Amino acid sequence: MIDTVHDLAALRARIADWKRAGLRIGLVPTMGNLHAGHFSLVAALRARVDRVVASVFVNPTQFGPNEDFARYPRTPDQDAQGLAAAGCDLLWLPSVEAMYPLGLHNTVTVRVPGVTEVLDGAHRPGHFDGVATVVARLFNQVQPDVAAFGRKDYQQLAVIAHLVADLAFPVELLPVAIARESDGLAMSSRNQYLDADARTRAPAMQAALRALRDAMQGGASAADAAAEAAVALREAGFVVDYVEVRAPDLSAHVDGQQAAVALAAARLGATRLIDNLEFSIDGTPSAR
Ligand code: PAF
Repeated sequence: MIDTVHDLAALRARIADWKRAGLRIGLVPTMGNLHAGHFSLVAALRARVDRVVASVFVNPTQFGPNEDFARYPRTPDQDAQGLAAAGCDLLWLPSVEAMYPLGLHNTVTVRVPGVTEVLDGAHRPGHFDGVATVVARLFNQVQPDVAAFGRKDYQQLAVIAHLVADLAFPVELLPVAIARESDGLAMSSRNQYLDADARTRAPAMQAALRALRDAMQGGASAADAAAEAAVALREAGFVVDYVEVRAPDLSAHVDGQQAAVALAAARLGATRLIDNLEFSIDGTPSAR
């Protein structure tokens, strides 16, 4: 059984004991329904810190009014068992009241400018305000030395990097490689919404991004390659929110620039999937 705390006083007592003992603390922030991708974050931290804390909190402020907050999968017992097996030391499982003590309509909101205005920020208004707000709270609550985030949420990582730099949180960010199923589908809690037919179509997203990369490495412009990828996604049954090629910092990609990231968001039925692929135009392997 993993040690689990539900209130801030109990969390602070554990953290204070560890800090007094000079231990380095790592945090894996999650919304639960944990899979191998989350456990890879725990493993990456275990190699770098003395104690690993995972938070499980389905954060209402990052869901839009027509999004899947109510049906988001909640599997607390399974999560606790998985975290214990992965070598996590403490599970922070706050209620909405513990996370937002002054009430959801009275909360201080953190808004990161710039990088939140494109891609998912444009398609999910307010989403990144909710993410930045809850991550700032988690950092204050857990006071980690290192926090691990998956590269699948590429834009989220950029938002959190801006948050950490601008508010001077003394937290090192540890980006972790995307965990994929054997057919290339990026692991996500939302994959379980896919019915059998949609599940067979879903790997087309990663395939479209790879084809986009190959086209650009073969000389195609970013705009043409992205348009082709969007067509491939539609042919596979997706309703496309966006397929874009950007510079690694998510500013506009200029043809001729070597480093790029292709990002896509699209829906299969009611399930919205995102994925990305980092590459260089001349095929130089990336440093990670
Ligand atoms: O990536 C997620 O699961 C969430 O956006 C996060 C970072 C835990 C904030 O709620």
